[in-house]
Amino acid sequence: MIINKTFGLSIILYVAVAPVAAAAAEPEPPGPAAAGVTEGDEPQADPGAEAFVTRCSGCHTIGGGPMKGPDLVPATRWAAADLRVAIKKMEKHVGSLSDADLDLLGGLLKAADVRDRIEAERQRAITVMAATLDPPDPALGEALFTGTRALRNGGLPCSACHRVGARGGALGPDLTQLKERLPRVAMLSAFEGANYPVMRPAYAARPVTKQEAIHLASFFEERAASTPAGEEAGWVVPLGALLALLAVVLIRIALPNRGPAGVRARLVRDAQREAP
Ligand code: HEC
Ligand code: HEC
Repeated sequence: MIINKTFGLSIILYVAVAPVAAAAAEPEPPGPAAAGVTEGDEPQADPGAEAFVTRCSGCHTIGGGPMKGPDLVPATRWAAADLRVAIKKMEKHVGSLSDADLDLLGGLLKAADVRDRIEAERQRAITVMAATLDPPDPALGEALFTGTRALRNGGLPCSACHRVGARGGALGPDLTQLKERLPRVAMLSAFEGANYPVMRPAYAARPVTKQEAIHLASFFEERAASTPAGEEAGWVVPLGALLALLAVVLIRIALPNRGPAGVRARLVRDAQREAP
């Protein structure tokens, strides 16, 4: 209910923001064709670890500290039945979890070598990615973010709801410094899975592809590196000042030379001449 309302709002926002975002975007050099992207034919190495990496690691680590969700080390010591209930509750974050998913994820979290399995899956995923996908391209990522290049499955451009620097909507959090909050692997699964309650409806049927997630992540990484923390949206003030200056200059040009200002200047000059 809340989600639908908010999403409705976001659509309105999108309609309002999209033309602005598009206008603000620089013309985009033609990028490599998205057609060369291969997806979905990865070898099935470790389904439990894969499920965790793709659906949970955007919010949880096991021994790496809290992210959006708590570090799951304590949970790995829970009774299997309690753990299953807790994982089932994550449907509010990740969408439906079948009994088979719960078996896989519960089994993984109770395994003694859970961290090794997740690390191995990460490595495998990176290898597969490197073999089948184009290398990260921040310029393409920016185009996908702003919407100058459409997302392959037709999802809204991120800038409908998010800002990077001065550009984009304000419904979602500012992503300028996203790199400080999310490491790359977590970014990829967060984008592909749209692991956030307000975002999910926008992408459930139109997921961001792995290739797109890679370009987007490289854009966020590059942007965070080139924008010192605390300067996000810092454009607005200089821009305002610039516009004010421009207005003053235009008024000066537009006003006739011997307007009130000229009269006043003459009076001042006369007064100065008369002073002892
Ligand atoms: C969008 C972020 C998000 C995602 C994705 C997510 N979780 Fe969570 N998880 C949380 C938050 C926040 C909590 C804290 C309590 C709550 O919301 O229920 C939590 C709590 C938990 C807990 C209880 C831990 C404790 O110490 O209380 C477990 C277990 C858990 N999540 C497992 C998973 C699994 C497995 C997945 C993947 C299927 C997953 N989570 C996906 C955010 C997330
Ligand atoms: C319909 C609006 C909307 C669109 C479109 C959208 N998001 Fe979001 N996003 C949100 C909202 C709202 C949140 C805050 C969490 C929540 O409530 O879902 C969020 C949260 C996030 C977060 C977590 C932010 C953080 O600080 O941890 C990331 C990352 C993110 N979005 C990335 C993206 C990317 C990448 C795209 C484009 C592919 C995108 N979003 C498109 C609304 C949107």
